[in-house]
Amino acid sequence: MNAPAMLPVLTLPITTRRLIIREYATADTLAVTENVCENLYWEHHATEPPSAAQISALILWAVQEQSIKPRINYYLAATRKDSGAVIGEAVLRITDPINRQGEIGFGVARKFWKQGFATEMGQVLLGAAFGQMKLHRVLAQCAPENKSSIRVMQKLGLAREGLLRDVAQARGKWWSTVVYSILEHEYAKISKVTKS
Ligand SMILES: CC(C)(COP(=O)(O)OP(=O)(O)OC[C@H]1O[C@@H](n2cnc3c(N)ncnc32)[C@H](O)[C@@H]1OP(=O)(O)O)[C@@H](O)C(=O)NCCC(=O)NCCS
Repeated sequence: MNAPAMLPVLTLPITTRRLIIREYATADTLAVTENVCENLYWEHHATEPPSAAQISALILWAVQEQSIKPRINYYLAATRKDSGAVIGEAVLRITDPINRQGEIGFGVARKFWKQGFATEMGQVLLGAAFGQMKLHRVLAQCAPENKSSIRVMQKLGLAREGLLRDVAQARGKWWSTVVYSILEHEYAKISKVTKS
């Protein structure tokens, strides 16, 4: 992918009602490992649950990405404002800077599911994507069986684009992915409604 020499840089941390979305530090590795240790977390992923070494490598990669210029990967920690605990991950990738395309993703530790945290993270990510990063289209994707992730995408205002069938073979079966997206003018409309 050709990244232009200049890309906007996301200003962090970002504070929401209950969360602070910030850069990862290597000291977060244990918290992330604990957050994703349950098999249920990986139920709808076409990958085996990662080992401790793989999680360490992921956090190290996230930290290294912080100084890459131009920066296209924002793999961020979602922490609770009240306790400082890392409760999830918020991801923004600039997948095609020339055409202003991006992708968001989110994950929340099992004990915090169904409390609106992923939706709160997604709102931050969309605000960053269409605000500071000036993207035109943002997508999110997950397995079609991942009902809570689909619900989050819908709550964020993303529209279903379609089903990519059998895109990966893992854990003894074929995996499909459902793609949702939102365009900048659609986001402008819903963010105006939310603000008023
Ligand atoms: C998907 C995930 C991020 C959702 O996080 P969350 O903080 O629980 O999400 P929210 O609370 O903001 O919203 C979840 C919504 O899904 C709904 N939901 C949960 N389970 C559901 C199910 N089985 N069927 C239908 N809806 C479901 C909730 O009721 C809620 O909707 P509501 O607000 O209208 O009631 C979380 O389950 C997770 O981290 N899973 C593992 C990683 C993952 O799959 N990440 C996303 C795909 S890459």
